[in-house]
This record gives sequence, structure tokens and C-alpha cells, in this order.
Amino acid sequence: MDYLSSGFSRVDSSEDPAVFLSCLQTLCSLPYFQSYKKKSLQLLNPGPGSRILEIGSGLGQDAASLARMVGRSGMVAAIDSSRKMIEAAGKGFKNAESIRCCLADACNLPLCDGAFDGARADRVLQHIPDPERAFSEMVRTVRDSGRLVVYEPDWGTFIISPGKKEICRTMTQLFGDTFPSGWIGRQLPGLFREEGLKNIRIRAETFHTGDLHLAIRVFDLVNNAHRAGQMGLVSPGQAEGRLDELRRAHERGRFFCSYTGFLVCGEKPGRQTPFPQE
Ligand SMILES: C[S@@+](CC[C@H](N)C(=O)[O-])C[C@H]1O[C@@H](n2cnc3c(N)ncnc32)[C@H](O)[C@@H]1O
Repeated sequence: MDYLSSGFSRVDSSEDPAVFLSCLQTLCSLPYFQSYKKKSLQLLNPGPGSRILEIGSGLGQDAASLARMVGRSGMVAAIDSSRKMIEAAGKGFKNAESIRCCLADACNLPLCDGAFDGARADRVLQHIPDPERAFSEMVRTVRDSGRLVVYEPDWGTFIISPGKKEICRTMTQLFGDTFPSGWIGRQLPGLFREEGLKNIRIRAETFHTGDLHLAIRVFDLVNNAHRAGQMGLVSPGQAEGRLDELRRAHERGRFFCSYTGFLVCGEKPGRQTPFPQE
């Protein structure tokens, strides 16, 4: 079974990689994601001629936006550990001369120290068991005074209503705990400080919806309920009952769910030309 929480770390060996590609397409179409992505690009603010690293580039829409910002004289390196993702992104990059796609693990970047003016990661560290290592690699490959921007959810903030507290907790906790790094959102500011980054800015970005059908696609609610049943955290009857409860709540306008992600920006100390302020 392909679960969204645990499957993004190994898309190529999943039963059906199309599940992950179509999930990313859905997310990119939602106003919340478009809005924080726009803010993250504004925070990075690369000018013409800049060299930018995009880690875990997925379908490549953000790399394409960055390519428009850096222009023909700049360069965007789009890195992903999934060949399927790199291939899907490559199809959309046909005329983007400034994008270089690379199949690589974020924890072991085949790139020189200080090769980039800036780096960005968007919902990637949550899928990596050693996010400190991946972030350290991003910092290593950015030049002095270069900028880093990362957005990551914190699944400890995931809430669903209505429902009995115990069942709600079990389901949301299972979803969060099956990400390799489900609490990365709260850890990001510390990671930026630990790496010695300066001018750190933190924004909390909260997503919410009352649409159960959307929540099923975004938060894998059906698979997650069945997984809880299979793992013996709830009985199979309770898992089905929980889904029925949510469907009835949706019909009465009582369904609600939400999570918070954190957008963090920082700069490497150094004497080189500072990154332009937005
Ligand atoms: C949730 S998707 C986000 C994709 C894209 N950043 C976006 O905002 O749509 C996570 C991406 O990270 C990639 N990924 C997961 N683990 C990785 C790793 N260790 N190194 C590089 N990429 C990784 C996945 O293949 C996937 O494309």
C-alpha cells in the first residue's frame, strides 16, 4: 500500500508512483500552497544571473518559477531522489535552458561548497529521516551571504473535527508519526540557528478546510484509518466507523481539519555581496 506520509521517501519503489505525482498536482492547485510558495519565492528573491538550488523539486513547478526569476544568465539546479519525479519535471522544462535536473539524495549532494547564491526546500525534509544532514548539505552548497528558504509542515499541529478525543488523537498521531520527520516544522528555526544562519525570519502558515473530499486526498484519511485498523491501534470496525462519522459530519457542514507549516528564511554569514532584500 502506498501511504502519502511514508511513501514520498521512496516514490520509485512504490506500487503506483502516479499516486504521488497526482497528489503533488492537487496540492499545487490549492490557494494555500500557491500563497506560501509565492511568499517563499519572494523571500529567496533571486535576481537575474543567480544560481539557485531547489531540493526535492517534485514536478518542478517551483524550479520553473525560479528559472523565470534568474533568467537565461542564471541557473536553477532541481534535485530529487526520485527518477519518476525528475522525468515528470523534465517534460515541463522543455524550453527552460537555465534548469539542470539531477537525480541525487539531499543528504549527499554531488555539488561543490558555495556553488549557489541561494537554496530552497518545500515539504522535503519531512520525508528524510536525517533532516539535519540534508539541511547541512544545503547550507554547505550555498555561498557566504547566500540565502536559504525552507517550508515544512509540523504534523503535531494536525487536527480533525468532529470525533471522540481518543480516536482523533490516534488517527492524527499515526499520520504524523509515519512521516520520517513529522515534527520538522517546530525544529526548523533551531536548525537554522545551529547552522549559524543570520537574519532568521519565521512565518507560521495555517491550512484549513471543511471539505472532506479534499482532506481525503491531501491527508490520506481513508488509507490512514485502515492503517490504524491493521496496526491494531483501533479495531477495524472503529476505523470504518470513524470514516462514516466524518462523512456524516461533512454532510452536516461539521467537518473541519487543519495543520500549520513553517516558512523559515536565513542567510549565511559572510563578507560577499549580501542577497538583495525583498
Ligand atoms: C512532498 S514532495 C514536494 C515536492 C515539491 N517540493 C513541491 O513543493 O511540490 C517531496 C519531494 O521530495 C523528494 N525527496 C524525498 N526524499 C528525498 C531525498 N532524500 N533527497 C531528495 N529528494 C527527496 C520526493 O521524491 C518528492 O519529489
